[in-house]
Amino acid sequence: MDSVTREFFERSDFNKSTLTNGAITPQTQYDIAKRIDAILSDKRPFLETCCGGGWLSARLCELNPRRIAILMDVSVHQARLARTLHPMSRAVLVGDATNIPLRADTVGAVLCSFAVHLFTREQLREVALQTSRVCADESAVVIITFLKPDIGQSLFDQFVEGYADADRARYFDFDEISQALAFGGWSPVVSERIHFDDSITVRDFCEMLYSRPFSTFQLLRQLNGEEWLSAQIESAANRARLCTHDGILRNERALSLLVFRKG
Ligand SMILES: C[S@@+](CC[C@H](N)C(=O)[O-])C[C@H]1O[C@@H](n2cnc3c(N)ncnc32)[C@H](O)[C@@H]1O
Repeated sequence: MDSVTREFFERSDFNKSTLTNGAITPQTQYDIAKRIDAILSDKRPFLETCCGGGWLSARLCELNPRRIAILMDVSVHQARLARTLHPMSRAVLVGDATNIPLRADTVGAVLCSFAVHLFTREQLREVALQTSRVCADESAVVIITFLKPDIGQSLFDQFVEGYADADRARYFDFDEISQALAFGGWSPVVSERIHFDDSITVRDFCEMLYSRPFSTFQLLRQLNGEEWLSAQIESAANRARLCTHDGILRNERALSLLVFRKG
């Protein structure tokens, strides 16, 4: 994760109630959790890496209170947020997905939601190796992400343009993720699109969060914190990014759920 993004996650409550918990409604969160629940091992804990506020683990533990969740985030602030929001987790660790601080063969699955785009290809390969090390046999890696084609080519182009100078988001396609995961011996077994017809407009989103409608621009200012945004506000790239954020909230209706198994 680059230093600007890191700073953002260290300072922001973004994962508490915003993009993920806002644009993806509780109903969709449960739909996603139900699909994942069926994949998890009954015998071992699962690790959610890059947990942020930890909505996914929370939904999974609500579905099956006997499940043991280990949450991990590289950001101290996000880990604290997860611990506060979801005290039922067995453990919340501060740790890097490219260097997971767990012993070999300890977990039955590794989950990663909305974070793959924060890794370079090389880091994703590291993640593949690390997940392979900490996972027992028969385990799964579960990824939730926007895949490159699903995000819509024109939106994707704007997104890339918007991030180009900061070298931040890298939306991969299915093959790119599969190739990286293959480094850890992971093979794809499921690739499902999750349509969320209940996605909401930026206006409704703001009403929900702040009890008043905002423009996209105002929303991002609110979400990102003035300091983080001010460095970018002038650039055309940032304008493209504002559009894209607007688009994701308003138009994007397909996430991907990818499952990999060893072998
Ligand atoms: C967009 S948020 C997604 C949070 C949550 N998984 C969700 O679905 O809402 C990405 C999270 O990944 C974390 N992160 C980024 N790079 C990481 C790394 N190398 N190891 C662990 N966590 C990381 C960030 O701190 C942030 O909390």
